[in-house]
Order: sequence, then C-alpha cells, then structure tokens
Amino acid sequence: MTSRIAAAVIVALAILNPGSSQGQAPKTPVSFIRDVAPIFKENCFGCHGAKNPKGKLDMTKIEALRKGGTKDDPIVPGKADESHLVDVLKATDASRMPPRETGEPLAAAKIAVIEKWIAEGAKIDAGLTPSTDLVKELRRRWTPPSPLQRYAFPVQITAQAFSPDGKKLVVSGHHELTIWDVETGKLTARLSTRSRRAMALLFLPDGNLVYGGGRPGEEGEVAIYNIKAAPSKTEEGIAWLNGVDDPKVLVKKLLETDDEVQCLALSPDGKKLAAGGCDRMIHLWDLTPSIANAKLEQSIENHADWVFSVAFSSDGKRLGSASRDKTAKLWDITAKESLLTFPDHQAPVFGVALKADGKVGFSAGDDRQIRSWNITTDQGAKQVKAMAGHGGPILKLLQHPKQPWLITAAADNTVRLWNADTAAAMKTLSGHTDHVLSIALHPEGAILASGSYNGEVRLWKLPEGTPVRDFAASPGQMVATKPKK
Ligand code: HEC
Repeated sequence: MTSRIAAAVIVALAILNPGSSQGQAPKTPVSFIRDVAPIFKENCFGCHGAKNPKGKLDMTKIEALRKGGTKDDPIVPGKADESHLVDVLKATDASRMPPRETGEPLAAAKIAVIEKWIAEGAKIDAGLTPSTDLVKELRRRWTPPSPLQRYAFPVQITAQAFSPDGKKLVVSGHHELTIWDVETGKLTARLSTRSRRAMALLFLPDGNLVYGGGRPGEEGEVAIYNIKAAPSKTEEGIAWLNGVDDPKVLVKKLLETDDEVQCLALSPDGKKLAAGGCDRMIHLWDLTPSIANAKLEQSIENHADWVFSVAFSSDGKRLGSASRDKTAKLWDITAKESLLTFPDHQAPVFGVALKADGKVGFSAGDDRQIRSWNITTDQGAKQVKAMAGHGGPILKLLQHPKQPWLITAAADNTVRLWNADTAAAMKTLSGHTDHVLSIALHPEGAILASGSYNGEVRLWKLPEGTPVRDFAASPGQMVATKPKK
C-alpha cells in the first residue's frame, strides 16, 4: 500500500505543480518568499530545518541562514559567484547540495533563480524580517485549491463519521468533506477544507464536528466545523459550505502543526479530546465548559514515531495509543506519566481500544493480529490473546460502545466483527474491492459504515453483517467502481 500511496502523491503533485521542474529564472526581480523560499523548503529544509540541522545550517530563517553553519555566511549579496551557497549547488564533488547520495542535483532553472536573487542583493520581501519563520510564512501564504466539481478518480475514504442524529454520513474528500444522506445514499452537502484530507472525524455532543487531517509532510490540523451553518451557495440541491475561511463554518482551530494529524478520540463523558499524528505527539484538550474555551492541557511525546490511534478508558483517566514505532502504550492522564508499553506486535500498530472493564487493552496492526493485553499496571502489559484471521494489515480497530464487539478494517478488503470477551471471530463483511481504510458506527450502534481506498462507502447492518447500501463517495463519480482483477 505504501508504494501505491507514494504513487498517488506523485500524481497529485504533478497535477498541482504543472511545469514546476522546467521553470526559468524570472525576467522580473526575484521575490524571495515567492520564488526562492519554496525551493529551499522543497529541497533543503528536510536536512536544514530548525531542529538538529545538518552542517549546523538552519535555513528556515533568513538570519539563521546568513549566520552560516560550521562555515561563515554562505551568501555574498550582489555576488552569486562568490557565494558558498551557489558553490555547493553547482559542485560536482562530495560537497554538492543536496548531497549526491540523495539523488539528482537541483534543476538548473532553480539554481538560476537562487543566483539571480543573490545577484539582486539577496533581499527579502517587504513584510518579512530576518527572523520570520519561513515554514510558517509559506504555510500562511498557501491557499487550498477549490473543490473539484467532478472527481476524475475515486478519492480514498480515509475518514467518516455519522451525524449525532444518525441521518447524515460525513466522508473525507479531496480538500473537502462530502455529506451524504444515510437513507438514500445521496450527496447533500460539500464542505471545503484547507487540509487535503481528513484522517479522523468525530462529532462532539454539541453537534460540532472535529476534523483531524492535513497535507502529508506539509502541515496538520485539528479543526472544528459546524456542518449546520448556512451554506455559501446551493447548486442542484447540494449545499456548499466554506470551511476554509467562513468563521460560521470553521468554528475553531485547535491545532496547527508541521505534519498530518492521524487520529482523534473523545472521552466517554465528552469533556476531553485527544489527537495524535505524524509529529509523534498526542495533544489533549479540556473542552469544558464549551468548545469555544477549549484548553490545551497536555502535549505528550511518548512515541518514537507516528501516532496512528488514540483511545480513552471508560473512566476517562487513561489514554491508549498506537504507533508506527511498533508499540501500543498506555498513558495516565491524571499523573501525566507513561504507564505501560505493549511491544508484541513487532510491526506498526494502527489501532487501539481499551475495554470498559479497565483491565484489557486491544491493539491491531501490520502483523494482521488483534492482540489483547493486560492494562492493570501490577501485571505489566502481558498479552492475553491474539485474534488472527485477516489476510492483510489491520488498518482500523473500533470498539462497539454498547456491545462486547470489536470491529476491524483491513487491507484484505474485509471488515470483521469479533467478540471482545471470547476473542471469537463473529462475522466477515465482504464486498469491498480494495483496502478498507475507515469505519464508523451509527450512533444507535446497529449500522456500520466502511470506506475503501477506491472510493466506495458501504453500509452494513450489525451484527448480521448484511449489506444495506453502497455508493461511490466521489462527487461526479456516480457509477460504482469496478472490482479489481
Ligand atoms: C540529505 C540532507 C541534505 C540536504 C537535502 C541538503 N543538505 Fe546541505 N548539508 C548537509 C550536510 C550533511 C552538510 C554538512 C556537510 C559537511 O559538513 O561536510 C550540509 C552542509 C551544507 C552547507 C554548508 C554549511 C556550513 O556552513 O558548513 C550549505 C551551504 C548547504 N548544506 C546548503 C544546502 C542547500 C542550499 C540545500 C538545498 C538545495 C541543501 N543543503 C540540502 C545535508 C543536506
């Protein structure tokens, strides 16, 4: 799946930046922030960022760049030929930047832009200062594309949530959320978002929608949307909501970070919200008395890699987490300390849940197993049982709030239902023709929605697992996607 995602990203980048590789140095004066900084960001910031920069050279602020790293200021304003920065870009030996082992040299046209900027005095644009954080400034200047009128390709269904009244299903789209009528499977509304995709969605008791997502490798966010706000227009019966800059729709931003947010969880009493993501952090907010006054309470750095899943205990005092670092962990929210680490998966862990009895944790992941483990600290994180059956990595794990059931979604194109008490496999829900990336439960607990890599949403009746309805959730792609050979 990883290579397919990479391919999809490359296609998306090619669409978004047509001709970006064969640009010429502009005839008009070069603007640092418009022309030069994006080249630095794309080709240099990965190694020359603010944290532990290579060669001690931080390029994310002009003042840091001009201070130089182990050597002096690499820029001589007005004199590109005498600038060390240009030397390293044009070098053919081991001093070349980006380093030879990472691939091709910078395109000649991009070097020309940097040379011209230095030749013109290496000036920065009005409104910037030498201490401007260039990562933040570029993010601020970035504007999301408007939603596609019609999708040429099915969009991956990475997140879904049922509205609290159970009548609507909110589904991730491309820079938008699409909102579908559960009874008819028809599109009713589209809500544009800054982020490219939602990775997690959940509704708060007050009816507001929490959105976790981002642009992979670029930025991440936790945003609060009011999907009942007045639309900016209605076309052919479909309401368009502006979630990018209409404050009635985008009610609040809880988090802006440097990489994608992957997961969200709400405490059973609805008072605490947790989010985790590719920056390895878990953030925890107190939502009382209202979302408008949400307070960031803890930023937890307990995992060594991306956080894929978070889940509260039934008493809201502990938080489970699952990570690409191959562990699931348990955090004591009151004491603010790590309680347990469960290492048995030996592979990335994509989902976590904590049983209502407070004694058992469940986790599932790349090793195709659901493992239950002891979460009472005196016994350590010992495995209790392993549940096998999926023929591919388990991408999502959900605990039914009212029944002793676990629900899993996997890269073997199935959704499965398990008895959490006995560890018995109950049902296999077959029908998807691609990896199942997301699952969501209807508030009454008897309907499950699942979404796939190839854009299908399927609704199922629980516990029978009988199909209720399915639709292609990419606007304009009204025909069902064909099964894969
Ligand atoms: C894959 C990592 C990587 C990337 C990408 C990279 N660099 Fe470097 N850079 C290094 C390392 C490592 C050093 C230290 C080399 C040394 O000390 O021999 C370095 C050193 C430098 C130095 C010398 C700093 C000093 O004062 O010692 C400059 C200038 C530089 N890089 C510019 C760039 C530019 C411009 C880009 C983007 C076009 C870039 N680098 C991209 C890894 C990287």
